[in-house]
Order: sequence, then C-alpha cells, then structure tokens
Amino acid sequence: MLNRLFANTFWWTIGILLLVELLIVYSMIRFRARPGQPKPKQVHGNVKLEFLWTVIPAVIVLFISIPTIQTTFETQRRAGSDALTVEVIGHQWWWEFRYPEYGVVTANELYLPVGREIHLAMHSADVIHSFWIPRVGGKRDVNPRPRGGPDERSARSNHLTFNIEQPGYYYGQCAEFCGISHAIMRMAIVAVSPAEFTAWVQAMGATADATTPVPAPPVDTSRAAGPTRTQSTAPSPLQGPATPVGPQSDVVRGQQIFTSKVCIACHTVQGTTARGVLGPNLTRFGARRYVGAGARPNTQANVEAWIRDPQSLKPGVLMPGAQQGGGGMPPSGLSEDEIRAIAAYLVSLK
Ligand code: CUA
Repeated sequence: MLNRLFANTFWWTIGILLLVELLIVYSMIRFRARPGQPKPKQVHGNVKLEFLWTVIPAVIVLFISIPTIQTTFETQRRAGSDALTVEVIGHQWWWEFRYPEYGVVTANELYLPVGREIHLAMHSADVIHSFWIPRVGGKRDVNPRPRGGPDERSARSNHLTFNIEQPGYYYGQCAEFCGISHAIMRMAIVAVSPAEFTAWVQAMGATADATTPVPAPPVDTSRAAGPTRTQSTAPSPLQGPATPVGPQSDVVRGQQIFTSKVCIACHTVQGTTARGVLGPNLTRFGARRYVGAGARPNTQANVEAWIRDPQSLKPGVLMPGAQQGGGGMPPSGLSEDEIRAIAAYLVSLK
C-alpha cells in the first residue's frame, strides 16, 4: 500500500522532471543568443502563461495529495475484531509494548505474529514521540494523553493497522525529536510465525500466576527445564524456555541482589518479586538484541557498563548508576561484584 503510493508518486515525478528538463535543454539550444542578433521581444505579465504555471503545479499537488491522504487513513483504519491489539507507549527514551489480550508487557522489541492483522494503539507517557519501523510501513506520532484524561481510547491515542507478511527483525527508530537521547530510542518488530508467537507469549509468563511471587533464589526452575541453550547459538529468542548461561552462582546471586535492591523499584521480571513499572519490563531481557533501547548490543560487558553508569551510554536516561543518581533516585551504590552478578542474571533471562 505504502510502496504502491511511493512508487506511483516517484515515477510520476520522474516523468515530470524529464519533461521539464527536456524543455529547458531544448529552449537553451533553440533560443540561445547568436552574435549580431537583436534583443528578443520583452514580455511581462502574460496572463495566459501565469495562469498555466499556477494551475499545472496545483494539479500535480492534487494528484499527489489525494492518494497520500487516502493511504494515511487506510493505515489507521478500524482493525477487525480478530486483530491483535498492542498498546504502544513511548517513554523518554524507550518503548513499552503491552498485550492486553495476554497480559504480557515488554519493551523495545515488539513481537508480532505474521499473517494476523495488527492494531497498534499508541500514546506517550511524556513528550511527543513518533513510531516508525520503515520496512513495516507507516509512521505515526505518539502523543501524550491530556492530563487526567480518560482511558485507552482517548482521542489522543493514535493508531496503526497493518499486516506483516514475512518473519524477520525489522529495525525502527523514534522519528520525532524528543530530547537529548532521541537518537537512542530504537525499537524493532520481531515478526514470527503464529506458533512461535504463542510460544513467546507463554515464555513471557502470561500463563504464570502473577499474584504468587516466586521466592527469589534459586532461579525459577520451571523456566530452566527446556532444551539447553548455549551462548554460541544464533540469537533467536524462541528456542525454548530459559536456561541460564554463564556462571551459575553469579546468576543466582544476581537475582538475589536484583530482587533485594533498588532495581525492583522500577523493573519487573515476570515470575519474581520484581514488580516495578516505571522502567522497562525486563522479562526475558537476555533474548533482546540491545540494552538501553539500542544503546549497545546486549552483552554481559555492556549490561555491566549500563548498570554501572547508564548516563555514559545514554545521556539523560532516568536510571541511576552506581555512583550517580538519576530520575529522582539516589545512586544505586552497587559494587562491581554486584553489578557483574546482576548483569549475569539479566543476560541469562532468555
Ligand atoms: Cu522519542 Cu524521539
């Protein structure tokens, strides 16, 4: 739909360009000054010409704008009743994705099944952002709700409706300047088969009883019961339930520290006592490709660097570092050893 609009507009404008250039070149040669020629007749204010070169561009603009406006409305058509609705919430500077149908919340990587109509309902928690995943098409402003405004369906929610045909990892980026780290407000659509999507929903703990906290240590063994994953495997997050990788003691200790320190003030990890909602939900964090909404690849070293000093990777971020506060929070005061353990724990959550 968008491609068709783009291609049509492109080829029509190429045609117009060629025509205009040809006429210019022809006129330059045909009417060039020759030695000894008298000055040509000076014309000024030819009504017929003025009229023509006003009307022709106006018609061209109409030809472009009518299909553009139609397509814009088409991308936010009312979704069918069996569409998958995902609530998209822009934050400075990360993306929150909520799946009301499944009770799943995640961040920065938007898992979607191919072949099913997708409906994104979008708003912002702070300033205006813009949701844009070029290969999936459509770009839409993500506006803050009016203060004290009503629910999900408030007038300020914007919508995008589309279908994804091919599985893949489609990069996106916030497309509206929204503060100092606007450039590091990336996201991606992870388009998977319907079966893989179902597996992902289950792995996100949607079926787990969220009201019964699992005791912190040891690591949730129900998640560890699947096929073994090794770190060398390609980063498909969908190969089965989590098996922690890395030194086991660090992972266990990391979870203990994570669930007993400031981390849980802002972060949730499904299946643990961590229930914070201010920051990104970190359930299955290890399966993500990036830390900090595209700030760095998701590796043990980068996650450590992030926990130690997120400001150095992403200026203005609300998360406090070990030595430096942030977002109204004091410094976390975590030791190097604790940082390593927490990073090991987070990276193990696949
Ligand atoms: Cu959010 Cu730019």
